[in-house]
Amino acid sequence: MRKMGGKKLHAIMIGFFYQGHIAPFQNLAIKLASSGCAVTFAHNEFVHHMLSKAEGVNVEKADPFLVARRSGLDIRYATISDGFPPDFDRIVNLEQHWEAIFLDFPSRVDKLIGDIIHKDDEAFAHFLVADTFYPWPASIARKYNILNVSFWTQPALMFATYYHYDLLVEKGYLPIKGDEVESKDPAFNTSITKKIVAEAFEQVKQADFILINTVYELEHELVSDMHHNQPTYAVGPLNFTTDVALPKSLWAEADFTSWLDSKPRGSVLYVSFGSLAHSNRQLAEEIANGLLLSGVHFVWVIRDDPQVLPDGFEDESKDQGLIVSWCNQSAVLSNPAIGGFLTHCGWNSILEAIWCGVPMICYPFFADQPSNGELVVDVWKVGINLCDGTSVDRREVAEKIKQLMSAESSNSLRDEMNKMRALMLRALDEDGSMQANFLQFFNDLWDRAEARAEEAEEEVDSD
Ligand code: UDX
Repeated sequence: MRKMGGKKLHAIMIGFFYQGHIAPFQNLAIKLASSGCAVTFAHNEFVHHMLSKAEGVNVEKADPFLVARRSGLDIRYATISDGFPPDFDRIVNLEQHWEAIFLDFPSRVDKLIGDIIHKDDEAFAHFLVADTFYPWPASIARKYNILNVSFWTQPALMFATYYHYDLLVEKGYLPIKGDEVESKDPAFNTSITKKIVAEAFEQVKQADFILINTVYELEHELVSDMHHNQPTYAVGPLNFTTDVALPKSLWAEADFTSWLDSKPRGSVLYVSFGSLAHSNRQLAEEIANGLLLSGVHFVWVIRDDPQVLPDGFEDESKDQGLIVSWCNQSAVLSNPAIGGFLTHCGWNSILEAIWCGVPMICYPFFADQPSNGELVVDVWKVGINLCDGTSVDRREVAEKIKQLMSAESSNSLRDEMNKMRALMLRALDEDGSMQANFLQFFNDLWDRAEARAEEAEEEVDSD
């Protein structure tokens, strides 16, 4: 392994606390360690608690990287408190939580990084890998004079939108008229979240490297344009690449494989709105009745509040479908019985749908989901919109479900999806774009780290 003046690279990785960030970031840790880096990976303490509870393992003993370490990878595991007890509801108290991430969490990260560096400064050349949504990486990297790698878990399109927000406003492209109303779940449209995202995208402009969990072939113009400005690499899809299985679900996964295996090929619609969106009673009522009218077999993930379903729906639909609180989504989507995915267009769900070749019905809520949905429906043509207007109606729901699930009316979608899936599988090949871009990043990182080490030695010599 390449060493810099006897030092080995050491990645200090600070994970973000939402479900959609966990698998890609953990898999990035495996890729960095497999490339010869030492890695210290820190989960938020409550994420550690939720992962352990979902896995049914003792919180004190749980360590997602145990198997990876036994296979010879140098991955150390740490947890870092966000200042609240594990059972504090971070969604209900979203603003208070994000305030703390902005004001209090940086000092906790600072202490963790300071302790790591002072403990083994001689043996390693450290660098920071932090989620782009954090508003402190550049300040902390500067304090410890370490390289700063920003990791973005949504599409390059959304990154570029946030990155160039002021310019897009100046040119009149943003905000989209009625955008405030458009967001179907305003919880994430608060002043503190906007303030943090704005600060985060000021900080990211000081990052030494930007890694994006996207597939180069799907967004190469955008990634190439950004690379001219700041070293940017499409290193996705990082959702399913490691041969080391890592616990990644924040909730216990229901297993209904035998139920799926009993269904005809392509006959089941999978419905999930991800880990953050809250469907209200009115929406759930229309979707439930649309499912009944369609007559299609279904699996519906209701993560937060089963009361949102219409009274009697579970009984009325028990021969047609299943309602579960959480599942292993990638495994379900890869089951041959699944013929379609009614999704909120979270980026990980879209990558997983393409990986499994499952066409989508799109019903985005907020953040990147609306623009992700436009990519799926209007650009890549591998999905349709749940509703063409602004309100959801059970008859239209039934029509769209039947349109997607019947082979005749969806064969062009399926042809396009097969092309997209082939692109993604090619990117995942040993000689594909994901590995090539990761190695390019890694070599560029080494070169920068060596240059810094030489500068530091010259400074010492000149003193
Ligand atoms: C969040 C934002 O909401 C989304 O807009 C952004 O693109 C990523 O961060 P989330 O809403 O959770 O993500 O959606 P998504 O990106 O689709 O991630 C959900 C993850 O949970 C997926 O990896 C999916 O496989 C997993 N999942 C979902 C399960 O494992 N089981 C389930 O039952 C449902």
